[in-house]
Amino acid sequence: MKRIVIVNGPNLNLLGKREPHIYGTRSHADLVKTIRAKARALGVTVSILQSNHEGEIIDFLQKEAPGAIGIVINPGALSHYSLALYDCLQALEVPTVEVHLSNIHSREEFRSKSVTARAARGVITGLGFEGYGLGMEYLAGLKQ
Ligand code: DQA
Repeated sequence: MKRIVIVNGPNLNLLGKREPHIYGTRSHADLVKTIRAKARALGVTVSILQSNHEGEIIDFLQKEAPGAIGIVINPGALSHYSLALYDCLQALEVPTVEVHLSNIHSREEFRSKSVTARAARGVITGLGFEGYGLGMEYLAGLKQ
């Protein structure tokens, strides 16, 4: 069965409590439920990680991404500075969609630059939970 790797970076475990006017009132568990429902609808399996640790995310990607049809990643603030995560995504050569819940271009200046986005096929930003499902749909539709 086709498999998609899903990664949520630092502070996304606080969804629902963290700045709800920006990130909404639904929790990370709610996001995982939405992702699993989408996976069922698309007929794919998912490997999911939320981590606050850059190294743990890189270890997980190195282990789980080979053989997967794609990666949907919300690197959180790592997007703005993690060259190690960028190098990891480049090295894996697995189609990647970067997702942000909020619109990173309509917030503080420092958020509008994503160093990891260079390693992605595309970026979905500002569409909330919907962004993950759209990224998964895109990856599931790619010719293998
Ligand atoms: C975020 C945007 C980032 O700037 C921020 O550091 C996050 C979440 C988003 O989903 O909108 O942690 O990636």
